Amino acid sequence: MVEREIKVFDTLEDLSRAAADRLRKRVAEAAPEQKVSVAFSGGTTPRTMFKLLAAPESGVAWERTELFQVDERMVPPDNAQSNFRAIRGYLLVHVPDLQRSFHRMLGEAEDAARAAEDYALTLEAALDTAPGECPRLDLVYLGMGVDGHTASLFPGSPALEETRRWVRPNASPRVTLPRLTLTYPILNAARELIFMVSGADKAETLRAVLEDPIRPRELPAQGVRPAEGRVRWYVDQAAAQRLRRPLRSAP
Ligand code: 6PG
Repeated sequence: MVEREIKVFDTLEDLSRAAADRLRKRVAEAAPEQKVSVAFSGGTTPRTMFKLLAAPESGVAWERTELFQVDERMVPPDNAQSNFRAIRGYLLVHVPDLQRSFHRMLGEAEDAARAAEDYALTLEAALDTAPGECPRLDLVYLGMGVDGHTASLFPGSPALEETRRWVRPNASPRVTLPRLTLTYPILNAARELIFMVSGADKAETLRAVLEDPIRPRELPAQGVRPAEGRVRWYVDQAAAQRLRRPLRSAP
């Protein structure tokens, strides 16, 4: 049973503050010796959250986290299109030693399939995965495109059909750069996933994703349905304006 929660915030700032605070709480509630695994998406929506997390007053016990990427464009880390470059600039460089806990997808790799395999091994090792099991991330932050994609799982793209690999290359005529992405198997093994969706341009897509029948090939965000995980939707009023079911605004 997919546990789903939808919270509507007045602004992106409020949404981002709640998303940042969820990370603080998730780390605080973990057992003292436990590390909390967190995966960040790219795109622009998370940047406000990264800035909040970068501030000393974020209260996150970073030394108890292991950080990962949800997806990456196949470009070097200093390329303007690199998701790592954004995460480093908005977050990692502002928190002492945090880059040491961050596992970067190698966007510069010549062999994307090999880079995907290596990243899967990194996840497996860092998350103490039992042989034959899928690594279970504790908290995954996802975005959603206007076309309903999430991670780098694009409508009609080959990676939507992946049932074995946890990380793989993907491409789509909708984007210029080939990608590396986490796939449904590992996303749906996660303990908690937070979608962050902001802006009126996503209102119709958000309505379709949340209220229409499931069709992940057209709306890949619908394919995130963890068997034993919680999915939280943190959306702002602009993105929520087409939702038919009345929703209470987040406190
Ligand atoms: C990427 C992201 C992607 C993103 C959505 C939403 O590499 O671009 O991982 O999945 O989350 O495209 O992007 P915005 O937050 O910029 O709207």
